[in-house]
Amino acid sequence: MIGKLNHVAIAVPDLAAATALYRDTLGAKVSAPVPQPAHGVTVVFVELPNTKVELLHPMGEKSPIAGFLEKNPSGGIHHICYEVEDILAARDKLKASGARVLGDGEPKIGAHDKPVLFLHPKDFYGTLVELEQA
Ligand code: CO
Repeated sequence: MIGKLNHVAIAVPDLAAATALYRDTLGAKVSAPVPQPAHGVTVVFVELPNTKVELLHPMGEKSPIAGFLEKNPSGGIHHICYEVEDILAARDKLKASGARVLGDGEPKIGAHDKPVLFLHPKDFYGTLVELEQA
């Protein structure tokens, strides 16, 4: 059911430092910071040959990333995103298997303007999983 790894999202306390690390030390191609007020984050996209890494920094007080950084002050992997062809079919199959879908269970338009859902980390070995309809 799941397809490509779309991205790995890493919460970072200092976006400029994290961008410099990926660009200068790791030699990756990085984007300019992209503010995404609807999602409460500023994102730097790290383009790799086979996938993306997204460096997430909180934007605004209600940012979902702020709480994560309080618990993980030096940053950490926040979620991984798998592509699915049909997000509603994927959701229904997962729910039937007992997996918990976060929120009201309806897909939201995500950071790439495509429908996304998040799955409870306790059901996936401590990993917050995002599904994106590719
Ligand atoms: Co994501």
